[in-house]
Parts: sequence; structure tokens; C-alpha cells
Amino acid sequence: MDFWNRPPQARLADFALLREVGRPVFFAEPRVPLIRAGRGFHALVRHADVVEASRNAAVFSSEPAATSPEPPPWLAKVFGTPMVNMDDPRHARLRRIVFRAFTPKMLARIEDDVRATATRIVDDVLASGAQDFVAQVAARLPIQVICAMMGIPEKARPYVLSRIDAMTEYSGVRGSLASPRTMRLLYGNLRAIVDLHRLVARLGRHRREHPAGDLVSALVNANPDGERLSVAELGSFFDLLLVAGNETTRNALSHGLALFTEHPEQRELLLDDYDARVGPAIEEIVRHASPIIQFRRTLKTAYELGGHAFAPGDKVVLFYPAANRDPEVFTDPDAFDIARSPNPHVGFGGPGPHLCLGANLARMELKIMFRELFTRLPGLRASGAPEYLLSSFDNGITRLPFAYGPSGR
Ligand code: HEM
Repeated sequence: MDFWNRPPQARLADFALLREVGRPVFFAEPRVPLIRAGRGFHALVRHADVVEASRNAAVFSSEPAATSPEPPPWLAKVFGTPMVNMDDPRHARLRRIVFRAFTPKMLARIEDDVRATATRIVDDVLASGAQDFVAQVAARLPIQVICAMMGIPEKARPYVLSRIDAMTEYSGVRGSLASPRTMRLLYGNLRAIVDLHRLVARLGRHRREHPAGDLVSALVNANPDGERLSVAELGSFFDLLLVAGNETTRNALSHGLALFTEHPEQRELLLDDYDARVGPAIEEIVRHASPIIQFRRTLKTAYELGGHAFAPGDKVVLFYPAANRDPEVFTDPDAFDIARSPNPHVGFGGPGPHLCLGANLARMELKIMFRELFTRLPGLRASGAPEYLLSSFDNGITRLPFAYGPSGR
């Protein structure tokens, strides 16, 4: 964690060095014996290498896990395996079923909900005044949207939100892994997952008996090919939405405000023609910020990539922030340029079977939230430096002071 416990600029400078000095494939030894880190990993830092490894899933496998360190096997036994940790054909089957959650029709259906949530968030900011953008804005939207998608009834949402808080409290822990506080939080986290699975399983069983035309009904009842999610799979899917769709979108929103504050000319450009420019602007936020730092693959067969001969069983970590600043692909890669075109960033993952399923949902959330913010709070800006999460996975902002009035309100 020493590497990650430094300002983002320092990490990016190291990645640039790895790209430039001809070691685009860098072997890192595990230094945390407590965690089942295994044999260490090769870091992929060039855009072309990240794209190739993402695309070639027959060689670069997402099993046993796409995250590092690997979750212990009992976790998968208790809670099921999320699709991000699967290869075909299991992965393709799940993706075919849950794809229904992200069709344009389904997204159009929740658009009103996203807009109403964004309006409520800005109402609350106006009522209570601006303090922390993360707590008051960025952290609120994605969770409400996921609850809306899953059809969690309004009256159950406070309970669901309290369980999600208990889940995420553990992921922010920085102290010793074996301390009593960490163990207590870990227990609270597992308990919260069990509670959420129970709630979603109840909902799934109910919708199987009484389909309601919503997403859960579509997932637990068969599609034209006769495929459907089991009630246990529905629980894992909900976890995955929370893990994949929550922190990512929240961090993209916070980085977005920090970037528009740091680059007022880009903000002017956006506001001059919001409708035409917001699409490319969001791609540039995701490229520049890279809200997800890395996913992993494990080689199934021998393969040569980036001038390195890999052996079966080797692990590669795809570093998205490094690929997204590769000067071979992006001119002036450190600049924040909302008119950048083309912008083939890999912030939503490289092209291939695991490319982010929720990318269009995230795009919609960001478009709607920034429109609401910039329209109703025209003086909106960050009023202090962001505080960063210590993590090798989420490029997270934990606190961002902000203001919106001319006098710094
Ligand atoms: C700015 C926001 C987001 C970013 C940066 C992001 C990033 C990513 C990345 C890098 C992957 C690739 C994983 C891999 O190749 O192994 C991924 C996969 C995924 N994302 Fe997103 N994501 C975002 C928003 C969302 C949202 C809002 C949802 C859903 C609510 C979502 C659901 C998923 C799912 C289900 C997968 C797994 C797909 C599969 O394995 O087939 N993501 N995301």
C-alpha cells in the first residue's frame, strides 16, 4: 500500500516511467504475506497491452478472480461467484440474462427516477448549505439508482441503505487486518451482505409468483431461451451492482467536480453547449480520473505480450490509469480536454466480454446530475483539495469541500 499512499500525480509519474523505460510488463513481488497474494503479478501499463489482454479472454482468464488479492474460496461458496470472476460459458450465460437490466428500454424506464433523485439531492444542498460534495451529492445518487433498478420499495430503502453503509464501512478500513476493530467491521460487513441477500431473495421469490414487469421480475422469470437467475444468483447480482455501480459512479462525480474546478475553461466550454458537449466530457472524466484502478487476469496458456513470454498461471494486472495516459494513444495525455476525439479510453474496461455492463447507466447518471448541479447551482465549485481513499482498486475521493454561491456559500 506504500505505493498507493501517495498523491495520484506521483503514482502516474511512476507508471509513465514504466511505460517509457521499456518495462511495460513489470513483475511485482507480493509483500503482504498475510494475504494470499501467491506468486506476485505482472503489471500491464500500456494501452495496447491492456486492450489485448481484455480482448483475448480465451488466454487471459477472469477465473479464479479478477480482483486482487483473491477472495478466499469460502466466500464464493457462501455468497456465490460474481460474473466479473467468471469465464465463458458461465459468464456468457449470466451476461445474457442480466443484460436485460441495461437495455435502452430499461434505462429509459429509470431515467425519471434518476432525475427525481438528482433534483432531491440539489434541494437538500440548497436547504442545508454546501459542506462535503461526496456525502451530500456523489455518494447519494448511485445507491438510490441501484435501489430503483432493483425495485426496492421506498419504505425498505432506509434499511437497505443502512446495510450498504455497514458493508462499505469495512472497505474503508486502513488499520491492521487483525485488529479487533477490523474484525468487528468485517463481521458487520458479512452480516450486512447476508441481510441484503435475504431481502433480495424475498423480493425474487415474490416476483417469481407475481411478476410485476420490473427488472427483478424479468431476471427471475425465464427469457425466450428459458434462462433465468436463481434466487441465490439474484443476491450475487445485487452485490455486484452495489460493488460495481456505486463507488465507481460516486468517484466519477467527485473527480468531475474537482476537474471542472481546476480547469474553469473546460467548464465554460461545457456550459456553452451542454447537450452537445456533455457526452465527450463524461468520457474525458472517466479517462482522466480512471475511477477503477485495476482488474486482473490469469493466463491459461503460454502467450507473448508486450515483448514478454508469459507462462500458464502467470497473473497480469491491467492498470487502467496507466493505459489511459499512454502517449502512444492520447496526445497530451495529462491534459483534461473535454473535446478530445477520438477518446478510446479503457476506464470502463478494455474491449472484450467483461466490458462494463453499467457504462450507459453511469453515463446517464453523470449527465443528469451535472445538468441539475450546474443549472441550479451556477457557482458550483470545489472549495478545497480532495481527500483521497487509500486503495489499489478504487480511485476514490472520500471528502471534497464545495461551495456554490458567489460569496463561497
Ligand atoms: C464511472 C463508472 C464506472 C466505471 C469506471 C466502471 C468500470 C468498470 C470496469 C473497468 C469493468 C471491467 C471489469 C473487467 O474487465 O474485468 C466493469 C465491469 C462491470 N461493471 Fe462497471 N463501471 C462503472 C459503472 C458501473 C455501473 C453504474 C454498473 C451497474 C450498476 C456497473 C456494472 C458493471 C458490471 C456488472 C461489470 C461486470 C461485467 C462482466 O463481468 O461481464 N458498472 N466496470
